[in-house]
Amino acid sequence: MSRDAEEMTNIDLFTPVRLGTLALPNRVIMAPLTRNRAAMPGNVPQAMNAAYYAQRASAGLIISEATQVAPQGIGYPATPGLHSEEQVQGWRAVVDAVHARGGLMFAQLWYCGRISHPDLLPDSQQPVSASAVRPAGDAVTFEGLKPFVEPRALRTDELPGIVDQYRHAARCAREAGFDGVEVHSANGYLLDQFLRDGTNRRDDRYGGSRENRTRLLMEVLLAVLEIWEPARVGVRISPENSFNDIRDADPQATFNFVARALSGKGLGYLHVVEGDMTGGASSVDYRQLRGHFDGHYMANCGYDKARAQAAIAGGAADMVSFGQLFIANPDLVQRFQADAGLNAPDPETFYGGDEQGYTDYPTLAR
Ligand code: PHB
Repeated sequence: MSRDAEEMTNIDLFTPVRLGTLALPNRVIMAPLTRNRAAMPGNVPQAMNAAYYAQRASAGLIISEATQVAPQGIGYPATPGLHSEEQVQGWRAVVDAVHARGGLMFAQLWYCGRISHPDLLPDSQQPVSASAVRPAGDAVTFEGLKPFVEPRALRTDELPGIVDQYRHAARCAREAGFDGVEVHSANGYLLDQFLRDGTNRRDDRYGGSRENRTRLLMEVLLAVLEIWEPARVGVRISPENSFNDIRDADPQATFNFVARALSGKGLGYLHVVEGDMTGGASSVDYRQLRGHFDGHYMANCGYDKARAQAAIAGGAADMVSFGQLFIANPDLVQRFQADAGLNAPDPETFYGGDEQGYTDYPTLAR
């Protein structure tokens, strides 16, 4: 019988869970959330970011907002990086504030690839991707929305340099005091551009078969595992999320393969964006996908407390991450425990701005 089947009768959202040497106090996880509030120039985490994350320290685990591993990995204004000394110091203050409140925090490692724009990149570079396939839609620049440009396909001999950038960021995450890292391989960003066949038309060892399309993710993961013990490393995937104009012809087969490739390594968790954030139809059987992975499964995408409890009690997930609910409810765990009402999130203040809509959502006690 599996670990989860044995415990199924009494596990709920408030049952602690162990990731190797890390003891998570509950299974209510704060999802990675882009908020575009790093200090500029330099894309450096600042005091209001520390206050925001510290307010949410009662989460079982905080996963940081997506954080570019290199200047070339950026895709939006004012997102934080994790590659410069200044950024490491900025993150250290954030992580210290979370630890002071008893929380745990992973850094999410991000490379946007084609979801970017020359306006955002060093020397106005052309964005890069697996193949020269331009996404439909617009990039977010400092001057507002501008149509995406055609990306440049990365040469095979450039890929070790990308892997090095992830390794460097993984090291920076340790220096900053994070408890672990999550490799962002979801939502149409660079690693996902390699995984899914709509964006990967390569004919080298990184394109074609599922094994080849998974190769860059595996190389990045092995680099990260040089720095971090496996239980402190998670991977995020989004098999059928069409956000950022991406798709795969057979998401079930592709991501069953990815889940198997990620097994046997003692990873902390597989974090899965289930379904399509943009509201498209879902055809993937996530229980089947989960059956291909040998570690903890973290479910995400529109869960509320009732659905999350049912998923955990029924063995469909080991943890559930919450995005918008954590934006609006710093004390989401306590509110869930008390069956209390929830603050409504304000989408106007999701991306960019100041403390308003960021650190001013009330807790129950206030
Ligand atoms: C976003 O900035 O909208 C964004 C960033 C990372 C994600 C998803 C959305 O994984």
